[in-house]
Amino acid sequence: MRILITGGAGYIGSHTLLSVLAADHQACVIDNFSNSHPDALTRVGRLSNRPFDIHQTDLRDGSALTESVAAFRPDIVVHFAGLKAVGESESHPLSYYEQNVFGTIRLLQAMDAAGCRSIVFSSSATVYGTPQYLPYDEAHPLQPVNPYGRTKYFIEEIIRDWAATDPAKGAMLLRYFNPVGAHESGQIGEDPMGVPNNLMPYIARVAVGRLDRLQVFGDDYDTDDGTGVRDYIHVTDLAEGHLAAINCLQHHRGVEAVNLGTGSGLSVLQMIAAFEAASGKDVPYAIAPRRKGDIDKFWADPERAHRLLGWRARLGIDAMCRSVWNWQSQNPDGYGESPRAG
Ligand code: NAD
Ligand code: UFG
Repeated sequence: MRILITGGAGYIGSHTLLSVLAADHQACVIDNFSNSHPDALTRVGRLSNRPFDIHQTDLRDGSALTESVAAFRPDIVVHFAGLKAVGESESHPLSYYEQNVFGTIRLLQAMDAAGCRSIVFSSSATVYGTPQYLPYDEAHPLQPVNPYGRTKYFIEEIIRDWAATDPAKGAMLLRYFNPVGAHESGQIGEDPMGVPNNLMPYIARVAVGRLDRLQVFGDDYDTDDGTGVRDYIHVTDLAEGHLAAINCLQHHRGVEAVNLGTGSGLSVLQMIAAFEAASGKDVPYAIAPRRKGDIDKFWADPERAHRLLGWRARLGIDAMCRSVWNWQSQNPDGYGESPRAG
């Protein structure tokens, strides 16, 4: 199959690209490198020993995008590209609507022009909002509580309307829980710009000495130890989930929303303990006030992914932490500073 990957240089995209190449698909990456480093793609090339196309294109540039998609003629598009920081989406909502929603509309138009009828979309558990029950299943009401989450919700709806125009169209709306971990080689991994917003990259930078201590945001939540509980999923499992979605789309039509999570949650303190055990490093921390907008706890009902895609997460928290430490200790500065575009 010919698989076009938007945002393929990013954290989840680069791991999925590797899985797609290992499965003998032909691949093309579209990325503007606003939140990624071209070296990630060089490393995927080395690890896979397979060629693939790279287009430095911004999703919002309709004519360049149409040209890139038409040149590659994909069978399926896997759409990762977009902005993902919840706090930034509250201070710059219009950028989020422009990049995420408008960018997706441009992509669907380019797919129509190139005759491509299948898409796998990076949605998020954040579309569910405050849990009305747990675990979240795909029938849980959708009430995202920040602009980032609303872009994911609106895009899901736009993709449903797009798919309804042609019975030959198909879409997988993959709702990721909390992706962590790195490729087993330690050559590619998560490398956020500036101070990380998310727990695992923050822990890794404390362990490697780039940051002094972790702030644990709240210890008075309604959980066993009072700290927030999330469903952490290994990025390698997530990449395999995308392959399963690609395989399913080869015969499946219509639109499916699917959770990609493990089905169980871990607290912040459990994550710190697991990382210390896996790395042999201390992770100093201090209890800090709650972070605005955080939810006590949530985790996935992963059964639909198993029934529809034949996929389950396989890797546990030890493997997640070991892989992060392998990546962070081999690459204390990540991919390095320049030359990121944005
Ligand atoms: P990432 O920032 O590492 O990757 C996104 C990639 O898209 C980057 O390479 C960036 O340069 C590119 N990009 C951004 N805007 C673009 C544009 N306008 N045109 C072309 N390229 C553009 O993020 P990630 O963690 O790999 O996440 C991938 C997707 O998964 C995103 O859509 C994100 O919202 C979603 N998601 C991520 C998480 C998470 O915790 N990482 C959780 C749920 C959903
Ligand atoms: N946390 C800390 N200290 C930190 C960072 C996080 O204590 O420095 C805590 C949070 O309060 C929360 C847990 O660690 O209890 C996880 O926080 P993350 O920021 O890593 O993840 P979130 O669950 O808040 O959000 C992430 C993505 C969202 C996505 C969501 C579900 O940032 O975009 O997972 O997929 F929607």
